[in-house]
Amino acid sequence: MHFQLSEEHLMIQKAARDFAQNDLKPGVIERDDHEKFPAEQVKKMGELGFLGMMVDPKYGGGGMDTISYVLAMEEISKVDASASVVMSVNNSLVCWGLQEFGSEEQKQKYLMPLAKGEVIGAFCLSEPEAGSDATSQHTTAIDMGDHYVLNGTKNWITNGGTASTYLVMAQTDAAKKHKGINAFIVEKGMPGFTVGPKEHKLGIRGSDTHSLMFSDVKVPKKNRIGEDGFGFKFAMKTLTGGRIGIASQALGIASGAYELALAYSKERKAFGKTISQHQAIQFKLADMATEIDAARLMCLKAAWLKDRHEDYSTAAAMAKVFSSEVAMRTTIEAVQIHGGYGYVKEFHVERLMRDAKITQIYEGTSEVQRIVISRAILG
Ligand code: CAA
Repeated sequence: MHFQLSEEHLMIQKAARDFAQNDLKPGVIERDDHEKFPAEQVKKMGELGFLGMMVDPKYGGGGMDTISYVLAMEEISKVDASASVVMSVNNSLVCWGLQEFGSEEQKQKYLMPLAKGEVIGAFCLSEPEAGSDATSQHTTAIDMGDHYVLNGTKNWITNGGTASTYLVMAQTDAAKKHKGINAFIVEKGMPGFTVGPKEHKLGIRGSDTHSLMFSDVKVPKKNRIGEDGFGFKFAMKTLTGGRIGIASQALGIASGAYELALAYSKERKAFGKTISQHQAIQFKLADMATEIDAARLMCLKAAWLKDRHEDYSTAAAMAKVFSSEVAMRTTIEAVQIHGGYGYVKEFHVERLMRDAKITQIYEGTSEVQRIVISRAILG
């Protein structure tokens, strides 16, 4: 066992850090304020290869490992979690799912432009009445022979308005329960498919979250992913990797807030010395640094297991629940260290605190991660 990153990993980390500082930091407060999607920045992310990092180069991806992905996600999330959720969904939920389980034709037609970042994708599982209870799908997909007809509504879909390719889970045979669920590739513009209004959110306000409506949408049979009834397994397997992405996003939000608090504590003076010289602040910083280190190790371990093709579902759930809770605690303390300045926008930490909250909710709430972990340890 060794805890050293390779030269290549360090280069990817640096490229992501430079991109975050140079391209994402300017305007991040305004984008949050105006709920503005970082369109130009996402385009550049695609050009730099951050949107299809783990995809085989023959399908237009970067051919990198999951460790590289964790490192890049941390750096980008330190600065702009609205941009990093676009990256996470496109890499882990859309590209990885298609690469692993898509047909050759689906990979040529859909994966290639997604991996190059020419278009972005969305993953559509949640519904008004199916969040954590994901088997309870009300969207239906009736088998009509050479095509399916989709009807229903999806909720809180990241990249909902900006995506071109949507992976949509729907119930084909309710009697078979979760074994009757299928996953489909739906294109924007298919007749009967409409994007609902944008959600106005507490955090990650630059990301584009919508409900989606399907009314008699005809989806060709060749757009079904995998065998009939594979949809729920597809969603679960894909989300397992997605949890490494969101764990790394949470890690980045925490380390971004910690770095700001550390720097501020060395500048701000109170009672005749910098606040970093007060034990009350020193202990907060010590706790933040310790928890962030543990979260980083957990994210990297889950990624390492995935790269070795070993079972990583428990490690991914542990990394997500821990990192997201560290993100919440760390950002709250970062605001506290900044005092009154922490409560205003210019100092970034209040935004990171708002952004942190979603990491405990999406891609499986903290409670769902605890279900996954407890089932693994109790059998
Ligand atoms: N990998 C492969 N298969 C899995 C699996 C996994 N990680 N987890 C479950 N399964 C399989 C089970 O083996 C079982 O299959 P069999 O019947 O063949 O044995 C089947 O799936 C059903 O599993 P469970 O009986 O465990 O199902 P459950 O109803 O008890 O639910 C759950 C389990 C873990 C709570 C699951 O429903 C879940 O993960 N819910 C959360 C859903 C979620 O993460 N939603 C996020 C939405 S997407 C999003 O947020 C994206 C975004 O935009 C940012």
